[in-house]
Amino acid sequence: MNPKSYTIRNKAGMSITVSSLGGIVQSLLVPDRNGKLGDVVLGYPKATQHHDNGYMNALIGRVGNRISKGGFTLDGTFYPLANNSKDCALHGGEIGFDQKIWDVRTFAGADGPSIELTLLSPDGDEGYPGNLFVRVVYTLMEDCAWRIDYMAVTDKPTVVNLTQHAYFNLSGGKDKDLCGHYVQVNASRFTEHLKGNIPSGKVLPVEGTSLDLRQPTSFCECLHGAKKDAYLKKVGGGFDHNYVLDRIAPGLSQAVVLEHPESGRQMEVWTTEPCVQVYTANFLSPKDKGKFGYGFDPHAGVCFETQHAPDSPNQVGFPSIRLDPGQVYRSTTIYAFDVVDVCEG
Ligand code: BGC
Repeated sequence: MNPKSYTIRNKAGMSITVSSLGGIVQSLLVPDRNGKLGDVVLGYPKATQHHDNGYMNALIGRVGNRISKGGFTLDGTFYPLANNSKDCALHGGEIGFDQKIWDVRTFAGADGPSIELTLLSPDGDEGYPGNLFVRVVYTLMEDCAWRIDYMAVTDKPTVVNLTQHAYFNLSGGKDKDLCGHYVQVNASRFTEHLKGNIPSGKVLPVEGTSLDLRQPTSFCECLHGAKKDAYLKKVGGGFDHNYVLDRIAPGLSQAVVLEHPESGRQMEVWTTEPCVQVYTANFLSPKDKGKFGYGFDPHAGVCFETQHAPDSPNQVGFPSIRLDPGQVYRSTTIYAFDVVDVCEG
């Protein structure tokens, strides 16, 4: 089946175009300080090009990020998974949710125009147990926020950790890298990882390292300048780290603020998840020409993948991602754009 594209628009003119292939965001148009729309996500002319280019802007499941040890054990049964990335299972397996054709409908939601994506992942899909029904709703709120509500139910005990892999660059196609952006991540701890980005199980303070983004920090300084240290050199020369959020209460909590002063665009990430993977597109390659007419080099954009910690099924100290029959998996993340005088709210 060929993928189809769907577009919704809010009153401020903000719009999102989404493919039935993987729920891939093909464009996200957001006004700048002069009200001029710009596309704030990287992308390629065809949705089918996104998987091979870092899972660009796709829905990720059943389990985002990495699972080590060739699988996981649940209730005494070992479930083997394909090691589709180096020595681990990454982003749902060989054919994860980003490569599935989802059922899609658009509707007028209570909070704004919405796109509903649904998928039935059969028992045994990519090695995971249980028939898993997944529903994801993208809503464009009137205050210029892109809200994602995830829901899933299963008929057997299983594991679930869904996320979205959007690559943001708030310049709207003008800047070829993240210089010009400032980032703040509300996390005073991160999960240490070993070779292959597999967590050691330790949760360490960011204080005193280049990973400390608790104050607005220039991406340029981190990626190219003074702030670069061993942590940033290790993995592709940029951020690819799971931050444990400092949340005050359950529910939605502010995780990230990204600012691009030149355009006047600012994006806040709010989430119900405990963690966010900050990934500065370290492994992008310019081999394929993107939708702005040029190929994307490393650090062309940044992902804020809200999630439970990587390798949770194999890490006893991390919060569980187990889902049982009768339970409902729910997760919400909001990418809220704040453009002075243009967006209501
Ligand atoms: C991972 C990176 C990986 C990228 C694209 C991120 O979530 O943390 O290590 O290269 O996704 O696959």
